[in-house]
Amino acid sequence: LALSGKRDLILHGRDATRLASVRRRCQHPERHREWTAGLADPAAAGESLSDFLRSSGLRVAHFVHCAGVASVEPIRHADPSHVAATFKVNVLSAAAIVKALLDADPLRESLRSILLVSSAASLRGENGVAVYSATKGALDALVRSLAVELAPQIRVNALLPAIVRTPMSQATLDNPAMQDVLARKYPLGTGETADLAGVTEMLTSESSRWTTGSLWTVDGGRTLF
Ligand SMILES: NC(=O)c1ccc[n+]([C@@H]2O[C@H](COP(=O)([O-])OP(=O)(O)OC[C@H]3O[C@@H](n4cnc5c(N)ncnc54)[C@H](OP(=O)(O)O)[C@@H]3O)[C@@H](O)[C@H]2O)c1
Repeated sequence: LALSGKRDLILHGRDATRLASVRRRCQHPERHREWTAGLADPAAAGESLSDFLRSSGLRVAHFVHCAGVASVEPIRHADPSHVAATFKVNVLSAAAIVKALLDADPLRESLRSILLVSSAASLRGENGVAVYSATKGALDALVRSLAVELAPQIRVNALLPAIVRTPMSQATLDNPAMQDVLARKYPLGTGETADLAGVTEMLTSESSRWTTGSLWTVDGGRTLF
Protein backbone atom coordinates (compact mmCIF):
# COMPACT_ATOMS: atom_id res chain seq x y z
CA LEU A 1 0.00 0.00 0.00
CA ALA A 2 2.90 2.32 0.72
CA LEU A 3 4.41 1.55 -2.69
CA SER A 4 1.48 3.19 -4.48
CA GLY A 5 2.71 6.48 -3.00
CA LYS A 6 -0.93 7.56 -2.60
CA ARG A 7 -1.59 6.43 0.94
CA ASP A 8 -0.97 7.90 4.35
CA LEU A 9 -0.90 4.76 6.46
CA ILE A 10 -1.39 4.05 10.13
CA LEU A 11 0.72 0.94 10.65
CA HIS A 12 -0.28 -1.36 13.48
CA GLY A 13 1.83 -3.80 15.47
CA ARG A 14 2.48 -4.76 19.07
CA ASP A 15 6.26 -4.44 18.99
CA ALA A 16 7.16 -0.75 18.77
CA THR A 17 10.72 -1.35 17.57
CA ARG A 18 9.72 -3.66 14.73
CA LEU A 19 6.85 -1.37 13.81
CA ALA A 20 9.18 1.61 13.54
CA SER A 21 11.50 -0.45 11.36
CA VAL A 22 8.60 -1.37 9.03
CA ARG A 23 7.65 2.29 8.72
CA ARG A 24 11.23 3.27 7.88
CA ARG A 25 11.27 0.68 5.08
CA CYS A 26 8.04 2.04 3.54
CA GLN A 27 7.99 4.43 0.64
CA HIS A 28 7.61 7.96 2.10
CA PRO A 29 8.03 6.93 5.76
CA GLU A 30 7.32 10.49 6.87
CA ARG A 31 3.73 10.12 5.66
CA HIS A 32 2.93 7.14 7.85
CA ARG A 33 2.16 6.80 11.54
CA GLU A 34 2.47 3.97 14.04
CA TRP A 35 -0.17 2.66 16.41
CA THR A 36 1.22 0.12 18.87
CA ALA A 37 -1.23 -2.19 20.62
CA GLY A 38 -1.72 -5.86 21.40
CA LEU A 39 -4.98 -7.45 20.29
CA ALA A 40 -5.27 -10.23 22.88
CA ASP A 41 -7.64 -7.98 24.85
CA PRO A 42 -10.01 -6.63 22.18
CA ALA A 43 -11.72 -4.07 24.42
CA ALA A 44 -8.36 -2.62 25.46
CA ALA A 45 -7.27 -2.53 21.80
CA GLY A 46 -10.44 -0.61 20.89
CA GLU A 47 -9.80 1.88 23.72
CA SER A 48 -6.18 2.24 22.68
CA LEU A 49 -7.24 3.05 19.11
CA SER A 50 -9.83 5.57 20.33
CA ASP A 51 -7.13 7.30 22.41
CA PHE A 52 -4.70 7.24 19.49
CA LEU A 53 -7.22 8.79 17.10
CA ARG A 54 -8.31 11.39 19.65
CA SER A 55 -4.77 12.47 20.52
CA SER A 56 -3.48 12.47 16.93
CA GLY A 57 -6.55 14.01 15.32
CA LEU A 58 -6.18 11.47 12.49
CA ARG A 59 -9.19 10.16 10.58
CA VAL A 60 -9.35 6.73 9.00
CA ALA A 61 -10.72 6.18 5.49
CA HIS A 62 -9.89 2.48 5.05
CA PHE A 63 -9.27 -0.24 7.61
CA VAL A 64 -7.54 -3.56 6.92
CA HIS A 65 -7.56 -6.17 9.69
CA CYS A 66 -4.71 -8.57 8.99
CA ALA A 67 -3.39 -9.76 12.36
CA GLY A 68 -4.14 -13.36 13.10
CA VAL A 69 -2.97 -16.46 14.92
CA ALA A 70 -3.15 -20.04 13.74
CA SER A 71 -2.27 -23.36 15.25
CA VAL A 72 -2.65 -26.82 13.80
CA GLU A 73 -4.00 -29.34 16.29
CA PRO A 74 -6.88 -31.79 16.47
CA ILE A 75 -9.88 -30.45 18.37
CA ARG A 76 -9.45 -33.08 21.12
CA HIS A 77 -6.14 -31.40 22.03
CA ALA A 78 -7.53 -27.88 21.95
CA ASP A 79 -7.28 -26.02 25.24
CA PRO A 80 -10.46 -23.94 25.75
CA SER A 81 -8.45 -20.91 26.85
CA HIS A 82 -6.39 -21.16 23.67
CA VAL A 83 -9.58 -21.38 21.58
CA ALA A 84 -10.88 -18.23 23.28
CA ALA A 85 -7.54 -16.46 22.75
CA THR A 86 -7.60 -17.32 19.04
CA PHE A 87 -11.11 -15.89 18.67
CA LYS A 88 -10.04 -12.73 20.52
CA VAL A 89 -7.17 -11.93 18.15
CA ASN A 90 -8.76 -13.17 14.91
CA VAL A 91 -12.35 -12.00 15.33
CA LEU A 92 -13.16 -9.96 18.42
CA SER A 93 -10.32 -7.50 17.87
CA ALA A 94 -11.69 -6.77 14.38
CA ALA A 95 -15.14 -6.07 15.84
CA ALA A 96 -13.65 -3.87 18.59
CA ILE A 97 -11.59 -1.87 16.10
CA VAL A 98 -14.57 -1.36 13.80
CA LYS A 99 -16.54 -0.08 16.79
CA ALA A 100 -13.74 2.31 17.76
CA LEU A 101 -13.54 3.60 14.18
CA LEU A 102 -17.31 4.17 14.06
CA ASP A 103 -17.25 5.90 17.46
CA ALA A 104 -14.53 8.22 16.11
CA ASP A 105 -16.60 8.95 12.99
CA PRO A 106 -20.23 9.11 14.20
CA LEU A 107 -21.50 10.87 11.07
CA ARG A 108 -19.63 8.42 8.79
CA GLU A 109 -17.76 11.21 7.07
CA SER A 110 -14.35 9.51 6.91
CA LEU A 111 -14.55 5.74 6.93
CA ARG A 112 -15.15 4.33 3.44
CA SER A 113 -14.08 0.68 3.51
CA ILE A 114 -13.22 -2.20 5.79
CA LEU A 115 -11.29 -5.26 4.64
CA LEU A 116 -10.98 -8.24 6.98
CA VAL A 117 -8.32 -10.81 6.16
CA SER A 118 -10.04 -14.16 6.49
CA SER A 119 -8.75 -17.37 4.91
CA ALA A 120 -9.68 -19.91 2.26
CA ALA A 121 -9.71 -22.25 5.28
CA SER A 122 -13.16 -20.84 6.10
CA LEU A 123 -14.55 -22.43 2.93
CA ARG A 124 -13.43 -26.03 3.17
CA GLY A 125 -12.60 -28.73 5.66
CA GLU A 126 -9.00 -29.62 6.54
CA ASN A 127 -7.54 -31.72 9.32
CA GLY A 128 -6.30 -29.89 12.39
CA VAL A 129 -7.56 -26.39 11.64
CA ALA A 130 -11.09 -26.48 13.05
CA VAL A 131 -10.57 -23.62 15.52
CA TYR A 132 -8.69 -21.41 13.06
CA SER A 133 -11.27 -22.11 10.33
CA ALA A 134 -14.08 -21.29 12.75
CA THR A 135 -12.53 -17.89 13.50
CA LYS A 136 -12.27 -17.16 9.78
CA GLY A 137 -15.86 -18.32 9.20
CA ALA A 138 -16.90 -15.89 11.91
CA LEU A 139 -15.04 -13.10 10.10
CA ASP A 140 -16.88 -13.96 6.86
CA ALA A 141 -20.20 -13.72 8.68
CA LEU A 142 -19.15 -10.46 10.34
CA VAL A 143 -18.37 -9.05 6.89
CA ARG A 144 -21.77 -9.95 5.44
CA SER A 145 -23.77 -8.38 8.25
CA LEU A 146 -21.54 -5.32 8.63
CA ALA A 147 -21.85 -4.74 4.89
CA VAL A 148 -25.61 -4.40 5.33
CA GLU A 149 -25.41 -2.43 8.57
CA LEU A 150 -22.87 0.13 7.35
CA ALA A 151 -24.10 0.67 3.79
CA PRO A 152 -24.12 2.88 1.86
CA GLN A 153 -21.26 4.93 3.32
CA ILE A 154 -18.92 2.11 4.28
CA ARG A 155 -18.14 -0.99 2.22
CA VAL A 156 -17.07 -4.17 4.01
CA ASN A 157 -15.31 -7.09 2.32
CA ALA A 158 -13.20 -10.11 3.21
CA LEU A 159 -9.97 -11.35 1.65
CA LEU A 160 -9.55 -15.13 1.72
CA PRO A 161 -5.98 -16.14 0.87
CA ALA A 162 -4.79 -19.72 0.71
CA ILE A 163 -1.18 -20.47 1.63
CA VAL A 164 1.11 -17.45 1.29
CA ARG A 165 4.77 -17.38 2.33
CA THR A 166 4.93 -15.65 5.75
CA PRO A 167 6.21 -16.75 9.17
CA MET A 168 2.76 -18.34 9.76
CA SER A 169 3.11 -20.75 6.85
CA GLN A 170 6.87 -21.20 6.75
CA ALA A 171 6.97 -24.62 8.44
CA THR A 172 4.38 -26.02 6.00
CA LEU A 173 6.02 -24.52 2.93
CA ASP A 174 9.49 -25.72 3.96
CA ASN A 175 8.36 -29.24 4.88
CA PRO A 176 9.78 -31.60 2.21
CA ALA A 177 6.82 -33.97 2.75
CA MET A 178 4.43 -31.18 1.70
CA GLN A 179 6.02 -30.31 -1.64
CA ASP A 180 4.07 -32.84 -3.76
CA VAL A 181 0.82 -32.07 -1.98
CA LEU A 182 1.22 -28.30 -2.51
CA ALA A 183 2.16 -28.78 -6.15
CA ARG A 184 -0.99 -30.85 -6.71
CA LYS A 185 -3.33 -28.54 -4.80
CA TYR A 186 -2.15 -25.19 -6.21
CA PRO A 187 -2.58 -24.79 -9.99
CA LEU A 188 -0.80 -21.41 -9.84
CA GLY A 189 1.66 -22.41 -7.14
CA THR A 190 1.69 -21.10 -3.58
CA GLY A 191 1.46 -17.37 -2.91
CA GLU A 192 3.69 -14.48 -1.91
CA THR A 193 2.48 -11.45 0.04
CA ALA A 194 2.86 -9.35 -3.14
CA ASP A 195 0.13 -11.52 -4.68
CA LEU A 196 -2.32 -9.98 -2.20
CA ALA A 197 -1.26 -6.36 -2.53
CA GLY A 198 -3.17 -5.56 -5.74
CA VAL A 199 -6.48 -6.91 -4.53
CA THR A 200 -6.02 -5.19 -1.16
CA GLU A 201 -5.35 -1.92 -2.96
CA MET A 202 -8.45 -2.42 -5.12
CA LEU A 203 -10.79 -3.36 -2.28
CA THR A 204 -9.74 -0.31 -0.27
CA SER A 205 -10.17 2.16 -3.12
CA GLU A 206 -12.88 3.67 -5.27
CA SER A 207 -12.14 1.02 -7.93
CA SER A 208 -14.40 -1.29 -5.93
CA ARG A 209 -17.04 1.27 -5.03
CA TRP A 210 -19.93 -1.12 -5.94
CA THR A 211 -18.49 -4.07 -4.03
CA THR A 212 -19.57 -4.89 -0.50
CA GLY A 213 -20.18 -8.04 1.53
CA SER A 214 -17.94 -10.03 -0.83
CA LEU A 215 -15.56 -12.81 0.08
CA TRP A 216 -12.52 -12.45 -2.21
CA THR A 217 -10.71 -15.75 -2.62
CA VAL A 218 -7.11 -15.16 -3.74
CA ASP A 219 -5.65 -18.62 -3.63
CA GLY A 220 -3.72 -19.70 -6.73
CA GLY A 221 -6.68 -21.95 -7.58
CA ARG A 222 -6.59 -23.91 -4.31
CA THR A 223 -10.37 -23.88 -3.76
CA LEU A 224 -11.05 -25.34 -7.22
CA PHE A 225 -10.41 -28.81 -5.77
N1 LIG B 1 0.18 -17.06 5.60
C1 LIG B 1 -0.84 -17.76 5.11
O1 LIG B 1 -0.64 -18.79 4.44
C2 LIG B 1 -2.25 -17.28 5.33
C3 LIG B 1 -3.28 -17.91 4.62
C4 LIG B 1 -4.58 -17.48 4.81
C5 LIG B 1 -4.84 -16.44 5.67
N2 LIG B 1 -3.83 -15.85 6.37
C6 LIG B 1 -4.17 -14.75 7.25
O2 LIG B 1 -3.39 -13.63 6.92
C7 LIG B 1 -3.22 -12.80 8.06
C8 LIG B 1 -1.76 -12.46 8.23
O3 LIG B 1 -1.09 -13.65 8.58
P1 LIG B 1 0.43 -13.92 8.25
O4 LIG B 1 0.50 -15.05 7.32
O5 LIG B 1 1.12 -12.65 7.92
O6 LIG B 1 0.87 -14.49 9.67
P2 LIG B 1 2.09 -14.08 10.59
O7 LIG B 1 3.29 -13.97 9.78
O8 LIG B 1 2.07 -15.07 11.71
O9 LIG B 1 1.64 -12.67 11.11
C9 LIG B 1 0.56 -12.54 11.99
C10 LIG B 1 0.46 -11.11 12.42
O10 LIG B 1 -0.54 -11.00 13.43
C11 LIG B 1 0.02 -10.29 14.53
N3 LIG B 1 -0.53 -10.73 15.81
C12 LIG B 1 -0.68 -11.99 16.23
N4 LIG B 1 -1.18 -11.98 17.49
C13 LIG B 1 -1.30 -10.69 17.85
C14 LIG B 1 -1.73 -10.04 19.04
N5 LIG B 1 -2.13 -10.72 20.12
N6 LIG B 1 -1.73 -8.69 19.06
C15 LIG B 1 -1.33 -7.98 17.98
N7 LIG B 1 -0.90 -8.53 16.83
C16 LIG B 1 -0.89 -9.88 16.78
C17 LIG B 1 1.50 -10.63 14.49
O11 LIG B 1 2.21 -9.68 15.22
P3 LIG B 1 3.70 -9.99 15.72
O12 LIG B 1 4.54 -9.80 14.50
O13 LIG B 1 3.91 -8.98 16.79
O14 LIG B 1 3.70 -11.41 16.19
C18 LIG B 1 1.77 -10.58 12.99
O15 LIG B 1 1.95 -9.25 12.55
C19 LIG B 1 -3.81 -13.59 9.24
O16 LIG B 1 -5.11 -13.13 9.52
C20 LIG B 1 -3.86 -15.02 8.71
O17 LIG B 1 -4.84 -15.79 9.35
C21 LIG B 1 -2.53 -16.24 6.21
